[in-house]
Amino acid sequence: MIVHVTDTGNDMAYRAAEMVKDRLVKYPDMTLGLATGGTMIGLYRYLVQMYERDIISFKSVVTFNLDEYVGIEASHPASFHRFMYEHLFKRIDILPQNVHIPDGMANDIQAECKSYDYAIKEHGGIDLQILGIGLNGHIGFNEPGTPFGTTTHVVDLAETTRAANARFFGSVEDVPKQAVTMGIKNIMQSRSIILMASGKAKADIVAKALTGPITPRVPASVLQLHPQLTVILDRQAAASMPKDYFDCSFVA
Ligand code: GLP
Repeated sequence: MIVHVTDTGNDMAYRAAEMVKDRLVKYPDMTLGLATGGTMIGLYRYLVQMYERDIISFKSVVTFNLDEYVGIEASHPASFHRFMYEHLFKRIDILPQNVHIPDGMANDIQAECKSYDYAIKEHGGIDLQILGIGLNGHIGFNEPGTPFGTTTHVVDLAETTRAANARFFGSVEDVPKQAVTMGIKNIMQSRSIILMASGKAKADIVAKALTGPITPRVPASVLQLHPQLTVILDRQAAASMPKDYFDCSFVA
């Protein structure tokens, strides 16, 4: 595990964008796992800038998003479909047929989960998975207690998760109670992972996930076992890491 610590959240986003750019230039037909949430906005802004400057192209890239709410239309202002098209997909040259986001409105939601797993396999798995982290240590929407062996499934969202995402819905009552999420097994099968976190609210959960016991109670803790994990934090999100931790990691 390599941990980069940047001064600001903006620097964190830029560092992550640089890493994605380097991978895209080397592997223009890569399969990219994407995330949503406030942490990703800066990353996608920089990737759009790099595309506009002809530094990168997404025309041969295939993407899989981690998750989507159940029961709201893709056109809903707070859906992850909308988030991704607003912040990234409508601003770059990705082909619509290469974009994969779970369908939270599928008639047979269990079949949707299975077909999502199949589509990931059909594309040879995910080369690089971008992750944020929830305040309770969730990755994607894998809430505390999710077995590490899960694949794409329907999850009952924790009240803390619904509250943390209420800002996109206006009120917590409007936040869906369920979502479709790639499972921890899907995430861990990615060939490489970039985990991003910024702000002091994430400091404790980041330290717990990266240096605490590996347990389903803190889903992100499983990432300690991934052979190709890069973590990019701003100083606030790194504030609770053990002081001696950075003797042996890269601090930018
Ligand atoms: C949601 C998403 C996660 C994301 C998390 C953190 O729960 N399903 O993929 O990591 O929010 O979001 P933020 O970056 O806004 O803190």
